[in-house]
Amino acid sequence: MSILEQIDKERLPQHVAVIMDGNGRWAKEKGKLRVFGHQNGVSAVRDTVEGAVELGIKYLTLYAFSTENWNRPKMEVMALMELLVSTISKETKTLMDNGVRLFAIGNLSNLPEKCRKQLYDAIKKTSGNTNCTLTLALSYSSRWEITEAARRIAIKVRDGDLGAEQITEDIFEKYLNTSGMPDPELLIRTSGEHRISNYLLWQIAYAELYFTSKLWPDFRREDLFEAVIDYQKRERRFGLTSEQLN
Ligand code: IPE
Ligand code: IPE
Ligand code: MG
Repeated sequence: MSILEQIDKERLPQHVAVIMDGNGRWAKEKGKLRVFGHQNGVSAVRDTVEGAVELGIKYLTLYAFSTENWNRPKMEVMALMELLVSTISKETKTLMDNGVRLFAIGNLSNLPEKCRKQLYDAIKKTSGNTNCTLTLALSYSSRWEITEAARRIAIKVRDGDLGAEQITEDIFEKYLNTSGMPDPELLIRTSGEHRISNYLLWQIAYAELYFTSKLWPDFRREDLFEAVIDYQKRERRFGLTSEQLN
């Protein structure tokens, strides 16, 4: 039985989030500069996106650049921004061919002008696609996102547009960057690190976590399929007992 046949299409996660980690170590293993790892991470992104579409996953959210990543050496940050610009323009065709709608979360105003422009162009161009929503987390951190939501809510309350007693989880969620998306049921992190690194803290409250030692540039759709198979073997209890569920 092929990997794909082992997956129950009726019980797919709607939303898969990925922390794409290990580009630097992948390059180092090959005696190359870290940037070489980032460049090779692009094929992993392409294959994973195509795999998600092939499987029927509706939302794929990739952590591409964190708020904390701005503190990396200037050379690496610049190379990553340039790679982002060239990748977005080159890969728009792949997105169109696969019916993928592009979206972005994070403090996008911090991105270089050129990068923001490419991003908004691609978002606009792909806005009618319905197979899958690919969200790039760029200049993103969860604490920034939650703080931003709290600040915007506070302003509404101050201006009399929202009553403090009206604030519920559902209302709060509307102020997050991911508003309107289902929460990820599955979170994948590559490179063998077992941490969340400030990613989607609110949204992953009940996500299943999947860690693989594969470094991101080596990740392919089969690895996504393996993660989904693992996910489908788990019992998601949401605080209930196993007996209550069965
Ligand atoms: C992930 O790979 C890509 C980004 C964070 C931009 P890393 O660059 O973190 O690679 P490692 O973890 O140092 O190997
Ligand atoms: C998380 O990876 C951010 C991205 C994948 C974009 P990092 O490599 O920056 O995370 P830490 O520093 O190992 O926690
Ligand atoms: Mg890393």
